[in-house]
Amino acid sequence: MNDLASVLRPIETARGLPGRCYTEASALDEERRRIFGRGWFCIAFASDLAAPGDLMPVDAMGTALLLVRTGEGDIRCFHNVCRHRGVRLVDEPQRGRTAVRCPYHSWTYDLEGRLRATPHIGGVGRHEAPGFCKGDRGLVPVRAAMWLDMVFADLSGAAPALEDWLAPLLARWRHFPLARYRPADTEPIRLRLEANWKLAVENYCEAYHLPWIHPELNRISPLADHYPIVGAAFSGQGSHCYAARGELPAAGDRPLAEYVALYPNLLLGAHMDHFFAMRLDPLAPDLTAEDARLWCLEAAAGAPAYAGARDRLRARWQDVFGEDVGVVERMQQGRRSPAFDGGCFSPVMDGPSHAFHRWAADRLGAPEPA
Ligand code: FES
Ligand SMILES: [Fe+2]
Repeated sequence: MNDLASVLRPIETARGLPGRCYTEASALDEERRRIFGRGWFCIAFASDLAAPGDLMPVDAMGTALLLVRTGEGDIRCFHNVCRHRGVRLVDEPQRGRTAVRCPYHSWTYDLEGRLRATPHIGGVGRHEAPGFCKGDRGLVPVRAAMWLDMVFADLSGAAPALEDWLAPLLARWRHFPLARYRPADTEPIRLRLEANWKLAVENYCEAYHLPWIHPELNRISPLADHYPIVGAAFSGQGSHCYAARGELPAAGDRPLAEYVALYPNLLLGAHMDHFFAMRLDPLAPDLTAEDARLWCLEAAAGAPAYAGARDRLRARWQDVFGEDVGVVERMQQGRRSPAFDGGCFSPVMDGPSHAFHRWAADRLGAPEPA
């Protein structure tokens, strides 16, 4: 574990997380327990369960979860496992259900997770059994909460309230029209990255690579105008000079844009005319699914008059996100090298990336450096 201690040193002498943290299955297991298992992370977008009775299975770092849109329109999260013999209950999204029925012996739960039917449990034709209480065998709930359209889970059940955890970021972003963003009527941007999820975060945190990897974006939002952002559970970079295209209604004309990784697995982008969130789904040490959604201000989120502008915005971000894939995958390849010692950081340009390394190393149990 000593190789983690060097991550906590001051940035000038710090090393990054060692290669094993990106390549070994045991490292992903550690992260499942110590990072994803201990606080809020984003598991889905609520608009994928638009109507009451929509069900969606979610594989959250190997934990089978089930999201349900109830009759009242609320989102509920449960462990996706039958309380009888442990069958995974739902394996595909379903629409318009009034109940969740296990395919094995047909035990049936309502959308609030209560066990409602146990056919033949007491013998053929007897649907009750002595000593068996349905009230004890409802679906096991998972603590979940929403912000904008993002659904967060806290598998520990012990994290601070989501709003408290988000409060520092929301205070920072009070100049952005967060309350007015609505999910945009556009297709998701989905990418598959042959790289560890942390590399997507690290790459997102820094603007240093802009001139070489995103020359077009660098023209709209040049590297020289960027500044670093470091919070307790987020880091990234911002620009004072984001030249919006002007095709979408904006909440004022301040040319402000901020790009922040909200640890562990959300990459957020705030602008005056739109917002985006990319959810990272760690599938394997060297495989990550990315799922990004856009938001626009109320008037532009769904109106047909803005359909073209929304599509152009989506295409632009798809290009930018796509530009990162090659280098991020090459960082993954470099992490298998015996010569890789965790790398080092530019004291000026890499502060937000180092902040993420520190956060992760701390959760992974790094001892304070001597
Ligand atoms: S395992 Fe689900 S009803 Fe038996
Ligand atoms: Fe990038």
